[in-house]
Amino acid sequence: MGSLPAQRWKWLKDAAHALAEQGWYCGQQVIDAEIIDQINSWIDQRQGDFHQAGIGRGGRQQTNIEIRGDKILWLEGEESNSGPPFVSELVDHIRVTLNRELFAAVSEFEGHFAVYPPGGFYHRHIDTFRDDDARSMSLILYLNPSWSSADGGALRLYTTTSSRVDLEPLGGTIVLFRSRDFEHEVLLAHAERRSFTGWFK
Ligand code: OGA
Ligand code: MN
Repeated sequence: MGSLPAQRWKWLKDAAHALAEQGWYCGQQVIDAEIIDQINSWIDQRQGDFHQAGIGRGGRQQTNIEIRGDKILWLEGEESNSGPPFVSELVDHIRVTLNRELFAAVSEFEGHFAVYPPGGFYHRHIDTFRDDDARSMSLILYLNPSWSSADGGALRLYTTTSSRVDLEPLGGTIVLFRSRDFEHEVLLAHAERRSFTGWFK
């Protein structure tokens, strides 16, 4: 860690504070556009390796485009050098912050890139599984160089039983939330919608 100026990670303090106070955080465009461009170039080269996302896990894993319409590519292990720039470093910084500031005791991480085609969405759900609640914190980094409200595709986060927030997936925006506590959905997107989504366990 530490190859980038500390300035670049200032938002982590706000994130830790918001997570402690309300259990979720949204930092709009906290990651440089240049980094987002580099990740997108990497995705462009790997398009052929993306596959239709499933729901559930293990033997019950099924593909159901009625529930989610994205294609995904899992991030390979830390030992692999084939990943995109920056993403492992981002995950490391967040992990350290969660453990130091929130005593989260997270060690493992799993994450994937997701590309929703126009017409894509992901119905309301929670990120833990019925038989496995190891996922502790959800992370999303948006990768869309431009986005307007007419493109739809907001992340709708149900923050309490009676309120919700709609977060636009503009590139460089980071969202974190406690995986067990927040139902959420991806509203119908009218433009291709890219993100990196992962879970600290
Ligand atoms: C997910 C998810 C939200 C988003 O992949 O579980 O809820 O905004 N993604 O991409
Ligand atoms: Mn989710």
